[in-house]
Amino acid sequence: MHPVHPHKIFVLLLLSVALGATAPRISVDVTQPGAAISPTMYGIFFEDINFAADGGLYAELVKNRSFEFDWPLRGWQVISRDGAKGRVLILRDEKSRNPRHLRIQLPQQGNGFGLMNEGFRGMGLWQDADYRFSVMARIIEGDITALRIELVDENERPIAEARLEGLTSVWQSHQCQLTSNSTTSAAKLKVWIIGSGVLDMDMISLFPKETWKARTNGLRADLVQLLADLQPGFLRFPGGCIVEGFDLSQRYQWKNTIGPLEERVVTINRWNFEFKHRPTPDYYQSYGLGFYEYFLLAEDLGAEPMPIVNCGMACQFNTAELAPLHQLDPYIADALDLIEFANGAADSKWGAIRAEMGHVEPFNMKMIGIGNEQWGPQYIERYVKFADAIKSKYPQMQLIAATGSDATIFPNGQEEIDYLWSQWRKLEPDIVDEHFYRAPEWFLQNVDWYDSYERSGPRLFVGEWASQSVGVGSPDNRNNWKCALYEAAFMTGLERNADLVTMTCYAPLFGHEEAWQWRPDLIWFDNLTSYGTANYYVQKLFSCHPGTRLLEIGVEESPKQDDETKGLYASATLDEKSGHVILKVVNVTDDVVETTIDLNGVKKMGGNATAILLRADSLTDENSLEEPKKIYPQESSFELTDARFDYEFTPLSLTILRVPIE
Ligand code: AHR
Repeated sequence: MHPVHPHKIFVLLLLSVALGATAPRISVDVTQPGAAISPTMYGIFFEDINFAADGGLYAELVKNRSFEFDWPLRGWQVISRDGAKGRVLILRDEKSRNPRHLRIQLPQQGNGFGLMNEGFRGMGLWQDADYRFSVMARIIEGDITALRIELVDENERPIAEARLEGLTSVWQSHQCQLTSNSTTSAAKLKVWIIGSGVLDMDMISLFPKETWKARTNGLRADLVQLLADLQPGFLRFPGGCIVEGFDLSQRYQWKNTIGPLEERVVTINRWNFEFKHRPTPDYYQSYGLGFYEYFLLAEDLGAEPMPIVNCGMACQFNTAELAPLHQLDPYIADALDLIEFANGAADSKWGAIRAEMGHVEPFNMKMIGIGNEQWGPQYIERYVKFADAIKSKYPQMQLIAATGSDATIFPNGQEEIDYLWSQWRKLEPDIVDEHFYRAPEWFLQNVDWYDSYERSGPRLFVGEWASQSVGVGSPDNRNNWKCALYEAAFMTGLERNADLVTMTCYAPLFGHEEAWQWRPDLIWFDNLTSYGTANYYVQKLFSCHPGTRLLEIGVEESPKQDDETKGLYASATLDEKSGHVILKVVNVTDDVVETTIDLNGVKKMGGNATAILLRADSLTDENSLEEPKKIYPQESSFELTDARFDYEFTPLSLTILRVPIE
């Protein structure tokens, strides 16, 4: 909590002498800075789960805008008033990548027939904010004079209106702007057709004008801001199991996600039907947030892009379909073409598409993941083929290999992980990805998980992990302080092993309050607002204070908990840019822990130190939409004149100490 007053130190000393107790001592060796902390050490992992893309980060407000869901009118309702009559047909053009569109037949003149879209559990609109409506339309016959676009609130009260004219017999995009006169999280869009005749419509869309960087087809600004605040070193995307698909036909195919929006191939989201307890039959991928947008997002965030590609294997917990080895070439070609899309010259085949989409300069992608949570000899066979092809064309590309769904519990037992590691030791991928979805206690008991790993060979990426307060994927899991605090302790272990562990990220990233499938999640949101969980602030404190070199740290006489686990966990780095020693200390006990901190080798202090404290009153505390900052970092500064000082650590807390040295 605080530096200790000198008078108190004296009393403490007397007390400890009297009781024969020794105060915990944290010693940091500043004389020999160790391994460099990778600039990519702390990153983020985005997967389209929990309505993270459509209905979340991707700011589109219309659900099923191109009528490609299995039920073409899911999310839509035909509306009519004053006895107006009409007919709605679904037409399918087999030649199109986005084959369906809507045909509306209006036998009589009028303005009382149309369609209503319900959005993603409603649409979030802000008072006085502007919205851009757009539609692809053509008049087939008759006298259709205009569309009347209306936004209504949850009580069907109109809150915005606009008239769109100028429809012709040519397929074209038309746009108009609306301004909402009130704030609601559950608005709906109504499209009324004025006139009589036959009208075709497709790509009916509504976007807030205010998006991240004011881009059209943009992302929700508040959600990207939360990501930017993490200062992530990398962005892993697009998954996760979504890369693998329930079967291979549903795998993520990046080529379906680029180019004009109307040509992106809408696909069912594998989380649509995965959890019986959270069915979301309206969960699809419009790919409005596609690979181009992912690369752009990584660039905006200053994060290294880390795409994961399907390696010819569907999710091994679902169908486990395999592309036969002799049919693997298209999968490998997809990976090679992706590298060209990201890094190729603007006149290369795929680089030209990137340039045409607006990014002439390459994205400078440096790493790629081969498969997500794969295992077994079938994975090794496929990995080898990918690795040979990629490394022979792009020797500098860093390859990431997987170790299944959890580095500790395997469907087929420990021999499965031993087998994989025996292969990785031989094949030497650049990076091996390990996942941990375990109880909070596991993270505390395994803070030193990487201490005993071999130092030679692949670097480690802790690519998906989060404490599960109840059980893996349980709908009752919470983002509570216990989980976050024990994760903080685990992260001191990751940081102490930064010579080996060069990347880590929490999973999953986003959860929609009304449309989630999986919890816990790092960031929660509804249609209007969002907040970072306690776990988010733990990630943020590590990510924003990484330092550049590892320092040796020892904690002596740590208090013990009842179950004999330690009470105090710590890591230390040196930040050569600011000249700060950065200490991260986690006190998981209920008590104030009074310590002596020794910065060995520091001759002169460099001014006031800063303490950033993250704490909660209870292990069950959580942030929420109502109390988004209940658990929130508090910063203070204090004077330090000596490299040996006493410091009290608050009960149940993570503290970052930044100590300037000369
Ligand atoms: O993070 C949720 C899921 O957990 C990911 O899709 C998958 O990779 C893991 O099993």
